[in-house]
Amino acid sequence: MKKIIITGGSGFIGSNLIQLLLKKKYKVINIDKSAYSANPYNVKEFKKNKNYFFFKLDINQRTKIIKIIKKYKPLGIINLAAETHVDRSIDSAEKFIKTNIGGVYNLLEIFRKLKKITKNKMKLLQISTDEVYGDIPENKLASENNNYKPSSPYSASKASADQLIKAYGRTYDIKTLIANPCNNYGPNQFPEKFIPKMIFNLLNNKPLPVYGKGKNTREWIYVKDSCEAILKVFEKGKIGENYNIGSGIKLKNIDIIKKIFKIAKKNKIKIGKKTKIIYVKDRPGHDFRYALNSNKIRKKLKWKNKTSSNKGLENTFIWYKNNFGYFKKISKKNITTRLGLKL
Ligand SMILES: NC(=O)c1ccc[n+]([C@@H]2O[C@H](COP(=O)([O-])OP(=O)(O)OC[C@H]3O[C@@H](n4cnc5c(N)ncnc54)[C@H](O)[C@@H]3O)[C@@H](O)[C@H]2O)c1
Repeated sequence: MKKIIITGGSGFIGSNLIQLLLKKKYKVINIDKSAYSANPYNVKEFKKNKNYFFFKLDINQRTKIIKIIKKYKPLGIINLAAETHVDRSIDSAEKFIKTNIGGVYNLLEIFRKLKKITKNKMKLLQISTDEVYGDIPENKLASENNNYKPSSPYSASKASADQLIKAYGRTYDIKTLIANPCNNYGPNQFPEKFIPKMIFNLLNNKPLPVYGKGKNTREWIYVKDSCEAILKVFEKGKIGENYNIGSGIKLKNIDIIKKIFKIAKKNKIKIGKKTKIIYVKDRPGHDFRYALNSNKIRKKLKWKNKTSSNKGLENTFIWYKNNFGYFKKISKKNITTRLGLKL
């Protein structure tokens, strides 16, 4: 049976990826420190699965992770453990540096130290982001050989990790790969991020805060499509290479809100009086546009995204509507936002 370690598996993309891996008959070892964005809710359904194992651990812990690798002998690690919210990185970057750079350094050192024992067969797939390429001008796309130009402490920490991955791959001949996905959306995402926040606020009769004029553009991929791409890169990607994961679907924030309103109407959700778009002061260093050239993964690894934005957004909306009670409970705890509004 194929065994794999997923770090950050209790978070948004990680939990969707574990669902896919269990379906594909992998034995999955989830290492996650259960930070605020990790929901026990996301992994509840796996607990009964005999092929799922969970370790509450920080990726900075070396000895325990080495023990786990020696015990399970996995094919490799897909690292999704990270601090992920740009707004939080602007308020305080420390945790971003510790996890997103320090944690990756620790995983690389583990790979280096275990090289003999693993016969250097283990792969490390680092999940990076399209944000490392920085602002992409209209009519341009970022391909894998674009320079890195991160704008926020978050994207700078991810870019630094990628450089470490490449350097360790070259210097110590470790089997590393990098995937750079665009913005993901779908079930299980912590509702401080844009799409779940808009859905949550709409369901909760709250205003919908949008940065600037709402014209910032992102490339959006449904998380299930993204997870299939991540697995493709892990299984078939060429060692030492980067793969962009983009859907080609680029939408302005304001367009997404309009789509969410349409879906709410279609599903006969009453729009409360307070649910109105409010424009708030832009965040510092806010990139205007991200857009990827994903020809490499499409041509070389024969991957393609399957979910339209209308279908993906409707699935997401319905999922949040069905799980609204849970998110209402956690929203009371610790959802802070630079947008000047509590969720
Ligand atoms: N969500 C997106 O749109 C998107 C897009 C591109 C890239 N990414 C990248 O994908 C990865 C996953 O993102 P996500 O949206 O699922 O994030 P998330 O915030 O939902 O989940 C992150 C997970 O990592 C865990 N974690 C944090 N610090 C840890 C540590 N020190 N040790 C162990 N576990 C730790 C958290 O508990 C959480 O379960 C991240 O690396 C992120 O940079 C995300």
